[in-house]
Amino acid sequence: MATMVALRKSTGTISSGARSLLSFQRGFGTSDHGYTLPDLPYEYGALEPVISGEIMQLHHSKHHQAYVTGFNQAMEKLQEAHSKRDPQTIVQLQSLIKFNGGGHVNHSIFWQNLAPVKEGGGAPPEGSLASAIDKEFGSLENLKAKMMTGGAGVQGSGWVWLGLNKDLKKLIVETTANQDPLITKGLIPLLGIDVWEHAYYLQYKNVRPDYLKNIWKVVNWKDVSSRYEKHA
Ligand SMILES: [Fe+2]
Repeated sequence: MATMVALRKSTGTISSGARSLLSFQRGFGTSDHGYTLPDLPYEYGALEPVISGEIMQLHHSKHHQAYVTGFNQAMEKLQEAHSKRDPQTIVQLQSLIKFNGGGHVNHSIFWQNLAPVKEGGGAPPEGSLASAIDKEFGSLENLKAKMMTGGAGVQGSGWVWLGLNKDLKKLIVETTANQDPLITKGLIPLLGIDVWEHAYYLQYKNVRPDYLKNIWKVVNWKDVSSRYEKHA
């Protein structure tokens, strides 16, 4: 990052303005070199026994990293194709961008959607989100059941979501295939549960419903609520 290096060289320290800029860029997982893997907000083993540290480490440092790397490579190719005014290549790159960019977007939400029990993981939602869930689904338990059924029914790899239709102010349970982000269905993602085998297989083997039943113990409803309140 040229600006930061220049500032460090000139002053030996980072000014508060530069620190804000750095923090802003980290928040969006970007740098001058492209998109970067965001830090997990907890230790790899902090979600045990619900999700093992081994799964979390592989999932974050290998799988999510691969999406980030793939996204950066696709964006470089896109820039190159655009500089050559090559629309055919630009269109061809869209599926690669959707898959890797979607993987980056989805996992960045997923890590924040979870929290260790000692940090509030599993504590039920409160306030406006709790009211909206009761209104739409009848109860939190009904919402969980709907998401568990939806997630178990995803064929192959994908995600099950609690999303918000911003125009109708309506909560909706939806699934997406592969790494399609929820925004491709016109919904704001509030809570996403990764049902790719890489998210659970080492611990739950082929029993995806057990993973879907247990994950509620570490859902960070405070994070889900804050996403809801930004748009509702
Ligand atoms: Fe994943």
